[in-house]
Amino acid sequence: MRLLVLFFSLSLFYRAQAQPLYNSAIYLQKNVLGNMFAFGVASGDPSSNSVVLWTKLNWKYTSNLQVQWEIAEDTAMQQIVAKGVKFAKMESAFTVKFKVEDLQPGKTYFYRFLAKDQYSPIGRTKTAPTNGASELKFAVVSCNNYQHGYFNAYRLIANRCDIDAVIHLGDYIYEYGVNRTGKKPQIRDHIPEHEILTLVDYRSRYAQYRLDEDLQEAHRLHPFIAVWDDHEFANNTYKDGAQNHQAAEGEWEERKKCARQVYFEWLPIADNDSLSIIRKLNYGDLAEVFMLDGRVEGRDKQLEHPNELAQADIDRTMIGKSQADWLVRGLVESKAKWKVMGNQVMFSELDMHKLSKKYARNLDAWDGYPSERNKLLNDMYTANLKNILVLTGDIHTSFGLDLVRHPQDKTSYNRKTGKGVIGAEIVTPSVSSSNLDERIPRGLAKLVGKLVKDKKTNPHMKYNNLVDHGYVLLQLSAKDAVATWVYCKTVKENRADMRKSKSWITKYDANHLTKYRP
Ligand SMILES: [Fe+2]
Repeated sequence: MRLLVLFFSLSLFYRAQAQPLYNSAIYLQKNVLGNMFAFGVASGDPSSNSVVLWTKLNWKYTSNLQVQWEIAEDTAMQQIVAKGVKFAKMESAFTVKFKVEDLQPGKTYFYRFLAKDQYSPIGRTKTAPTNGASELKFAVVSCNNYQHGYFNAYRLIANRCDIDAVIHLGDYIYEYGVNRTGKKPQIRDHIPEHEILTLVDYRSRYAQYRLDEDLQEAHRLHPFIAVWDDHEFANNTYKDGAQNHQAAEGEWEERKKCARQVYFEWLPIADNDSLSIIRKLNYGDLAEVFMLDGRVEGRDKQLEHPNELAQADIDRTMIGKSQADWLVRGLVESKAKWKVMGNQVMFSELDMHKLSKKYARNLDAWDGYPSERNKLLNDMYTANLKNILVLTGDIHTSFGLDLVRHPQDKTSYNRKTGKGVIGAEIVTPSVSSSNLDERIPRGLAKLVGKLVKDKKTNPHMKYNNLVDHGYVLLQLSAKDAVATWVYCKTVKENRADMRKSKSWITKYDANHLTKYRP
């Protein structure tokens, strides 16, 4: 009889134990043990009357958990405007994510969760305005490699009270294992130590990143509008594979499925059946934001040598026909003054032949998919579009470029007068992922910057910086768009001070980048 009771108790005990959600090293991190809200809170994808709220419970067992939530107009959580109950389930690793509706436009709200008698930290978020807003401010970020440095840029962003939303252009995590070569900057070690391949691996990597206090604080205090780039899957991802995926690592489709699922578990992005990141966000008559998927939706495999471009199949695509049609239709129909594209890789031409014949073009960027880019640009010119702002991450550099169809053609483009320009491309520096000067001497990296900015080679490039980390503050008004590159003093220590900033402006209807003189 005793044996029977013991067996029964043990079977109940084991049934209550979930398969581990994370690598065991996650549970040894600071503030994780016993802290139901160790991963913080977040919000995202604001509209004029709704916002997505997010949290993820630090819960090890199989049982579903009831979570209460409330959203208020004040920090003391007294003027509650909505509240409810959700269930956190094992199948989503206890993610709680939902859209709160019936909110007021252009308004700041505060929210929190309650589970197992623990309150979460209080988050702050903001809805989008309807028509008539005088100004919008976005913090634009990309490329936060945990191993390469501290997320000081996120602390700088968290410290601001004037941001409408943070636009994240991808490389939110990196898939690599711990780097033992000593060749690249290695400030902190990844969990798990190996390259991530499985569901548990991807969940563990996001968990580690979200335990970073600076990133967590940026999420707590601002809504995010995020898209993935390649490293949320594996380096140089395309639809059917990735440079950093080998056959011995298993089925690509299975890895892609895990990576996609886990991205949706961790990011405060609106859920949808196909787990697509392609969407449009409206900020009244001032801005419309088109978030693109240039990785797994329609991207054909990258070419290997610039010489192949001449023979390349005209039908090769990066975003694919249906997404391109959706984008052009949306841009043409948009009534907003500024049409913003949240894009992964460099859109404008970038001629690097002075540096290297082999690497004269970045074939992972739009330069590797010229026919699809040319068609998009032709459609924009045909529709007489102006005020397009292409936001770009991926390459760990700061660039400010006139958006133009043929930068080399003096008859159609004038870099001084702005003739032929339909907007600007703003490339945001990495939050921490290694810059050129962290791989080659700083003086040499600055020389590369000068060569790339040469007026004959890349006449549309107005600004560049290849050596600093930080973010871009994008301010939009009816009059102009000001991009300010804000740089951190260091990523090697955890300190949030600014090194310097640099502002460029594009003026409404005079549409090219000039130095900002307030
Ligand atoms: Fe990156």
